Amino acid sequence: MGAAQIGKGDIVVVPGASGGLGNQLVQLAVAEGSRAVGLYGGERKKDTLSGLDVIAIDSTEPEWAKRISDSLNGDAPTHLLDGVGGEVGREVLESLAMGGRVVIFGWSSGEATRVTNKDILSGGLTVSSLLGTRIDDIRTLESRALQTAADGTVRVLVDEYPLAEAWRAHEAIEQRRSKGKVVLVT
Ligand SMILES: NC(=O)c1ccc[n+]([C@@H]2O[C@H](COP(=O)([O-])OP(=O)(O)OC[C@H]3O[C@@H](n4cnc5c(N)ncnc54)[C@H](OP(=O)(O)O)[C@@H]3O)[C@@H](O)[C@H]2O)c1
Repeated sequence: MGAAQIGKGDIVVVPGASGGLGNQLVQLAVAEGSRAVGLYGGERKKDTLSGLDVIAIDSTEPEWAKRISDSLNGDAPTHLLDGVGGEVGREVLESLAMGGRVVIFGWSSGEATRVTNKDILSGGLTVSSLLGTRIDDIRTLESRALQTAADGTVRVLVDEYPLAEAWRAHEAIEQRRSKGKVVLVT
């Protein structure tokens, strides 16, 4: 899967898998033949991962990181696709296998995942960032993303609000209540 170089046999952890990007990323990881672990924030959001071939873990529960490890029978994740950052991102990063890959594309928690020299030197991690304004040939990637939705490779989860009540959408995002991609409709 592109920059993350995900393939068969990899184990991919996605924080914020209840959200617009995260929900699609777990599905794309599975489509590439990897095992995917989707983290979600609280019981109310569990349904965002139901029906998907994904290990779903509530990252607001105590000992959630241990639950990831238990669910993988001790195997360590190979990839972190991180749009959340903060403590959740950091804890997953620390659990990665030697030579793991981290792709940081956001920080919904307010703080990008902290990465140290030791992570790179001792853990052999490859860390990269993917930010929209710096992505080459974004139109081609957009077309490919739309194609995966159109052909059913990914199920797109949408949280719709009337444009006239855009404030409700902002409130849901602010209060971490939204599920999937927030869309304003006219
Ligand atoms: N690199 C780029 O070009 C690019 C493009 C678009 C978006 N982004 C970034 O990618 C990230 C995901 O975007 P998105 O559209 O998928 O957003 P989204 O739909 O709002 O999803 C973000 C998810 O983050 C989780 N989260 C965990 N801790 C949080 C906290 N403290 N506060 C708020 N949310 C928290 C929430 O899931 P739970 O509550 O279930 O944990 C939420 O569903 C954002 O940081 C966004 O800025 C980057």
